[in-house]
Amino acid sequence: MNCGPEEIAEAVRRLRGGGLVAFPTETVYGLGALALDASAVARVFEAKGRPNTNPLIVHVSSIAMAKRLTTNWTSHANTLAEQLWPGPLSLVLAKTTNIPDIVTAGGPTVAIRMPAHPVTLALIEALDEPLVGPSANISGSISPTSAEHVRSSFDDALVYVLDGGPCQRGIESTVVDVSGTQPRVLRPGLITDLDIASILGVSVSADSESDSIARSPGLSQIHYAPQARTMLVDTADLNASIADGGARVVAITHSGIVPPFKAFSLGNDPDRYAAQLYATLRDADALKPDLIAIESLPTGKTTREQALWRAISDRVSRASADRGKQ
Ligand code: TXA
Ligand code: MG
Repeated sequence: MNCGPEEIAEAVRRLRGGGLVAFPTETVYGLGALALDASAVARVFEAKGRPNTNPLIVHVSSIAMAKRLTTNWTSHANTLAEQLWPGPLSLVLAKTTNIPDIVTAGGPTVAIRMPAHPVTLALIEALDEPLVGPSANISGSISPTSAEHVRSSFDDALVYVLDGGPCQRGIESTVVDVSGTQPRVLRPGLITDLDIASILGVSVSADSESDSIARSPGLSQIHYAPQARTMLVDTADLNASIADGGARVVAITHSGIVPPFKAFSLGNDPDRYAAQLYATLRDADALKPDLIAIESLPTGKTTREQALWRAISDRVSRASADRGKQ
């Protein structure tokens, strides 16, 4: 971590001037701009090359700030925020009219979250204003989990980076719609549908994929994608044959298998695996292999592990989606 009051003050100055600041969170780095300033938000879309049909998450430093962004702070929202914020959970609620349309892609709802990182909470508190924060990567590529990852995608002059160290959790927040009576998970994450159901004491729906693409437009099929061809490979097939013909293969494994080529072993603890996944995909890609072979994920022993592996599987299957089909 390389960031104190001076860096935060500089970030505040840049943001108030309509500029862009990348901020650390427990999940991934966000590309920040003042959420209530439509032209600053437009710069975020432009810098990322993000389609304007994909809405942004608005980051707050308190529940009071969140309440000012919605016309209906539901009791589900309140219970989840009190128990899980700051944390990797975004709440979708009816938006107020002062939120520019560009933030919500013209839609009637806004996703709100309080990230668990002291630097970013201090930044938002100092601003006393919420920040939009999509992952700080070029649209469609791998999300950044370090300041260095952000710097590799954006020019210093365009994006000021607050270095809060490596992200501890590693995959993006769970997005849950709590605007109605039944909560719906729109994007799975490390806070699982089971966690939400047990806190609220109601059943939670997890959208079918086609449904969730319409409801959470960021869930397009290809996302988080390395440059190199990327494939899920069964443990039994992780042997010399996929390197036949001299193809240069790099594997990402969890089972302890040692393939006959370069491999990154992430182990079989889903929390650890998630925390390392994006940095490892970047490291694998930097070797410019012909193929990144991701060992098919375990299903997990406990129901909690199973839910975590499902969230990781969501990211891994997008990283390895067949571009020919897109
Ligand atoms: O962990 C995170 O959520 C990170 C950090 C930086 O906070 N941010 C992040 O933002 O992942 P982004 O833009 O990469 O992903 C936002 C997701 C997209 O899938 C988007 O479609 C969905 O949230 N989303 C945003 N607003 C929404 C809304 N009003 N309704 C439904 N989905 C929404
Ligand atoms: Mg993203």
